[in-house]
Amino acid sequence: METPNRGTCLILIGYVLFLSSLQEPVSGGQEGFISIDCGKTYTYHDKKTDLKYVPDTNFIDSGENNQISSYFRGVLDGNADYAQSYNLRSFPNGTRNCYTLRPVIKGSKYLLRAFFKYGNYDGKDILPRFDLYLGENLWFHVQIVNSSRNSYTEIIAVAPANSISVCLLNRNTGVPFISSLELRPLNDSLYREVDTSSSLVLRSTLDCGETGDIQIRYPDDSYDRLWNTYLRYNWTSIRTTSDSFDATMSEYQPPSKVMKTAAIPKSGFELDFYSDLEKFEWSKDAVGPPKHYIFLHFAELESLGINDSRIFNVKLNDEVIGYNVTPKYMSTTTITNGKPRNYDKISLSIYSVAGSTLPPILNSLRIYISKQLNEKNTHSQDVDAIMDIKYEYKVKMDWMGDPCFPLELRWKGLTCSNEITKSPRIISLNLSSRGLSGKLIESVADLTELEQLDLSINNLEGEIPDFLANLAHLYFLNLTGSGLHGPIPPALQHKLEKGLLTLSFEGFRNSANSKKTVVIVVGSVVSVSFLLFMVLIFVWRRKNKKKDLESSKRYSSSPSAVLLNQNNDGLHFQLKSRKFSYGELIGITNNFRKVLGKGGFGTVYHGVMENGDGVAVKVLSKLSSQGPKEFQNEAQLLTRIHHRNLVPLVGYCYDKDHLALVYERMEEGTLESHLSGTSGRTTVFSWRERLKIALGAAQGLEYLHKGCKPVIVHRDVKTSNILLDRKMEARISDFGLSKIFEKDGITHITTAIMGTRGYLDPEYNITNKLNEKSDVYSFGIVLLELITGKPAIIRSTFEPIHIIDWVQPGVEHGDLYAIVDHKLGDLYNVNSIWKVLEAALACTRSRSFERITMSEVVFLLKECFELETDNDNTVHSVSHGNSSNSIGNSMKNYDND
Ligand SMILES: *[C@@H]1O[C@H](CO)[C@@H](O)[C@H](O)[C@H]1NC(C)=O
Ligand SMILES: *[C@@H]1O[C@H](CO)[C@@H](O)[C@H](O)[C@H]1NC(C)=O
Ligand SMILES: *[C@@H]1O[C@H](CO)[C@@H](O)[C@H](O)[C@H]1NC(C)=O
Ligand SMILES: *[C@@H]1O[C@H](CO)[C@@H](O)[C@H](O)[C@H]1NC(C)=O
Ligand SMILES: *[C@@H]1O[C@H](CO)[C@@H](O)[C@H](O)[C@H]1NC(C)=O
Ligand SMILES: *[C@@H]1O[C@H](CO)[C@@H](O)[C@H](O)[C@H]1NC(C)=O
Ligand SMILES: *[C@@H]1O[C@H](CO)[C@@H](O)[C@H](O)[C@H]1NC(C)=O
Repeated sequence: METPNRGTCLILIGYVLFLSSLQEPVSGGQEGFISIDCGKTYTYHDKKTDLKYVPDTNFIDSGENNQISSYFRGVLDGNADYAQSYNLRSFPNGTRNCYTLRPVIKGSKYLLRAFFKYGNYDGKDILPRFDLYLGENLWFHVQIVNSSRNSYTEIIAVAPANSISVCLLNRNTGVPFISSLELRPLNDSLYREVDTSSSLVLRSTLDCGETGDIQIRYPDDSYDRLWNTYLRYNWTSIRTTSDSFDATMSEYQPPSKVMKTAAIPKSGFELDFYSDLEKFEWSKDAVGPPKHYIFLHFAELESLGINDSRIFNVKLNDEVIGYNVTPKYMSTTTITNGKPRNYDKISLSIYSVAGSTLPPILNSLRIYISKQLNEKNTHSQDVDAIMDIKYEYKVKMDWMGDPCFPLELRWKGLTCSNEITKSPRIISLNLSSRGLSGKLIESVADLTELEQLDLSINNLEGEIPDFLANLAHLYFLNLTGSGLHGPIPPALQHKLEKGLLTLSFEGFRNSANSKKTVVIVVGSVVSVSFLLFMVLIFVWRRKNKKKDLESSKRYSSSPSAVLLNQNNDGLHFQLKSRKFSYGELIGITNNFRKVLGKGGFGTVYHGVMENGDGVAVKVLSKLSSQGPKEFQNEAQLLTRIHHRNLVPLVGYCYDKDHLALVYERMEEGTLESHLSGTSGRTTVFSWRERLKIALGAAQGLEYLHKGCKPVIVHRDVKTSNILLDRKMEARISDFGLSKIFEKDGITHITTAIMGTRGYLDPEYNITNKLNEKSDVYSFGIVLLELITGKPAIIRSTFEPIHIIDWVQPGVEHGDLYAIVDHKLGDLYNVNSIWKVLEAALACTRSRSFERITMSEVVFLLKECFELETDNDNTVHSVSHGNSSNSIGNSMKNYDND
């Protein structure tokens, strides 16, 4: 066999050849084995391992069955021919297709292995490349290098829930496919290096001293690890035929069949092994090179004479990792490098120490890459529940992989909580018209954070189950046409009476919707935070109650809802905001002498307060039908909203026909002026500064969306509305103005005012339905501007190009250089830019529900900012036009190994 891991051969190659005569028939292997022959249509026992292989139909809904070309069957593989490689499943459609392996036990360790034999199944004779993911974590960049080889990759990981997802991602470099997929439970005492946050990906597996061209696996290895035989030309083989070997005593439990052969040097007292660790492809887009674990297994196979001794040191890349090693007779001793390390090569020298009469020995070796797993999975309880629902009702749709991640592939019909620093929870589930039949399963009640449940128009049977009342946060339940019948269980009835639930059900209409009431969400516990919260409460004045009701419900995550009547005027505030007279404004602005800018809402003038503070006075055009009282209410509200990333409002003016808002003046002007180079600044507007501004602005918007009740939608997010203070900290301006300007019946004017060309959410534009995702869209455009230095609408020779269309070709080709603002030169971290680009694209998806939230944007930007801060001096130069760094992988590769 050739030396493993040479050149660009990225996949460990297994020549599969079994000694079938040695095997005892064991049906299906050990308890818990799952062996899937992808693309096969029936179950069978493999002749060589006697493992039971099943078709993949119960594990995946998508893809199509294929067979490798007959030319590649048997003929080329010779004795390594092997049945699972004849069929395969390919995935011409969709960017991500996932297998769901279940049942597994949450928190237990598993070995997973995927095989790939291309065999020119599609007749195109083009070797595909694609990515393999374990849940949300990149497992392997699969690169098929030879049509006839059956390549595999193996990972050891802990199950994050009672199911494991294995996903294939299309990177636009060929159609992903898979030949077989195997899952083996491991004893938890094995591979202590593996825990919920780190896994091991196999790099090399050698059974030293075995001369036959065989591959050892189950049943010789009860965990069904694979071991490839290996002997170098200056090594010689020794073996024992004794049966007394005890393999189970060692921590790593290499099988006795592997341990009963070993290599010793042909001559001399040194055994060496060298592997030129070509960098794995994934190391290119990861932060550092991969970290390796090396496990060397030794056992004495000869019974030594009284004067004989075998004592050696083990040196790995100039570091001695084992001193005076004396392997025990017929028992395994393991030497490891202790903790995972970056190596660019592995140079191993095992040499006898003075006094040793015998040469050194090596029985087997395994090299793994330690991969950190990002723990951003949906909460396991929700994963288990939703998987139960998926399998019970055979929900097809696109339900694959993790329910909430990645953001852009979040399962249809459900929404997840925004707390993405923790495990998100499923907060709404819409299974309307999904052909659900049979009883409603109790797993639904395990979705304990569920706020909305729509089961309308299905063929369910039985009474409305009691357990729905256990969903403490549920406030919306639609059972219209679900097939469930009454009576309404008392516990649910109770919630209805308390006004905590909206229920749609035949012959039933609860009144929560029809009353002139507004839902204001407050905590159920009277506490300091409750009191603080009350300060922020104000009564909604909007005429379109229904819209408000929906948005307030959709985005609240507080434990209970309290209904307040609109006519409740009992809330009075001590007003701190200042009211200016028009005369005062004339004085402050020196008779409106200096114009700072013009916006949709009016003109902004430079002003100086009595105490010398600079202010910006925005004089509003008077379009609103609102009366003075409403305007005052709104303006007062705005003066009470404080966040370090919002421009502070000093006061307002409502004097006869004059409306104005007075803001603190921001020294550094607009973000737009900095990006367009009109700010008068001479130094480079650095990536780090841009990132800081993006993060600040995002936090400001997040506050408007999440910190304010009711939600404030800005409606005109753009670079000219992001102001910069003395410290170049971003401050959002013009927030809340749209509310002031709202007026029924003049939506065309409203629309014209509320959006700016290039930033306008296309969905809002079509449907006129507004929610905070419109701001997210606009913010995505801002991010693209920060990356590219281009305006939202780019002038070109022929016709103006929208910035999204402009970046598209670069994104598709993974060509960052074509996208990034050339003014930045080489002074940026590539990973950081990819991440921001990823966030921008996730913000600007055409359908609003597919967009991420501002909280998620903040989270991603924080990660980038930390990346920059961690490596203060890392000024990475760009690998120009490196197409392997495709957006596809950087998008999902959140790991930092
Ligand atoms: C892939 O999409 C095409 C066109 O939409 C469709 O005809 C085909 O059946 C799909 N294949 C699979 C495996 O879903
Ligand atoms: C592919 O692998 C087979 C053996 O599995 C070998 O005979 C053949 O030369 C290889 N082809 C290439 C292009 O490396
Ligand atoms: C796991 O290994 C330990 C130590 O070898 C052994 O005591 C235990 O019985 C094993 N557990 C299982 C489930 O095989
Ligand atoms: C064994 O062979 C390799 C080349 O395959 C060589 O680099 C190494 O020096 C040899 N080792 C000894 C101890 O002769
Ligand atoms: C062991 O070594 C001693 C002295 O070095 C020698 O006298 C004796 O014969 C040796 N025994 C064997 C079994 O070789
Ligand atoms: C559920 O989805 C259907 C369309 O599939 C939609 O008509 C309905 O409004 C949704 N329900 C909720 C509560 O959003
Ligand atoms: C409940 O679902 C039905 C059927 O999908 C729909 O007509 C009705 O409007 C829904 N009720 C509510 C309150 O959304």
